[in-house]
Amino acid sequence: MATILAIESSCDDTAAAIISNGRILSNVLSSQDVHKDYGGVIPELASRKHHENIVPVVDQALALAKTETSKLDAIAFTKGPGLLGSLLVGSSFAKSMAFSLDIPLISVNHMKAHVMAHFIDDPKPTYPFLCLTVSGGHTQILIVEKPNTMTVLGSTLDDAAGEAFDKIGKYLGLEYPAGPIIDKYSKKGRAIFNFPKPKISGLDFSFSGLKTAVLYFLQKELKTDKNFIADNLYDICCSVQSTIVEILIDKLKVASSEYKIDEIAIAGGVSANSHLRIELNHTAEQRGWKTHIPSIQYCTDNAAMIAMSAHYKYLEKDFSTLDTKAEPRLSILDH
Ligand code: KG4
Ligand code: ZN
Repeated sequence: MATILAIESSCDDTAAAIISNGRILSNVLSSQDVHKDYGGVIPELASRKHHENIVPVVDQALALAKTETSKLDAIAFTKGPGLLGSLLVGSSFAKSMAFSLDIPLISVNHMKAHVMAHFIDDPKPTYPFLCLTVSGGHTQILIVEKPNTMTVLGSTLDDAAGEAFDKIGKYLGLEYPAGPIIDKYSKKGRAIFNFPKPKISGLDFSFSGLKTAVLYFLQKELKTDKNFIADNLYDICCSVQSTIVEILIDKLKVASSEYKIDEIAIAGGVSANSHLRIELNHTAEQRGWKTHIPSIQYCTDNAAMIAMSAHYKYLEKDFSTLDTKAEPRLSILDH
């Protein structure tokens, strides 16, 4: 039985979790709201906040799990992708702890961990399954073959789905991250505005055309009505959200038919989107899919998913050395 402390610090959330024998004992998250006024994450501020938060967050994770450092068998951390300064805080902290406790160090790929979040709660997916990973930096369809092993079937050619939500939100004057706000406002609106869907064949995605189309649409409407955004905010949000979700579901349909896989999962921050969750279940009923939708706390960044990915690495004795580097551009195919 192994107990692992996992640390996540890739972007603007400082998080720590304890996993024991594949079961999450604690999962602590400290979100940074210093970025709200800037319309995006400021890397320098994020690193400073991680530096402030990491000790209390780790202490709390240990306390909630009713464990102590002497009982730990390994320390896991996010190696990438993410902001370099943020990753350095988590990786340096994890390395120092592993070194001082003389226990193994496990480096975790953040994007693989989003997928491995599906193994926290039951029912767990069976391999192979398809996973749509949709976050602030990624939009991909994967085949997941075994723990921490996946192949990319399609990716975004430009913006990620979360980025599309956030950038369009910025045009609408919404705070960062705009995804959850657009989700909330959409519930009060109707999808009455038509935005174009990209014509990209195969399983790749594109969202920059939609972003530009929304910008031009808003500029045109604002010329004749300076209150257009304020008066139509809920309907604009709902129309944008419907288009993004339609683009994502359309590609899942193609991937499922092409690869003859009916077990479909979604992961990453955008998988918290309520319309995506409803539409996925709706499509699943029509097509006989078995779906895996993570609970909200495991959609956005968290350390429990890092811990779950590390658990499988521990079983394989897949450890890292102290000279392992943080990799801001780590790909999902990388170790
Ligand atoms: O996975 P994540 O927490 O961080 C990254 O690794 O990027 O994803 C963050 C992204 C942001 O773009 C945010 O706007 C989006 O996920 N997001 C949502 C929702 N909750 C978070 N987008 C749409 N609807 C939501 N409910
Ligand atoms: Zn993430």
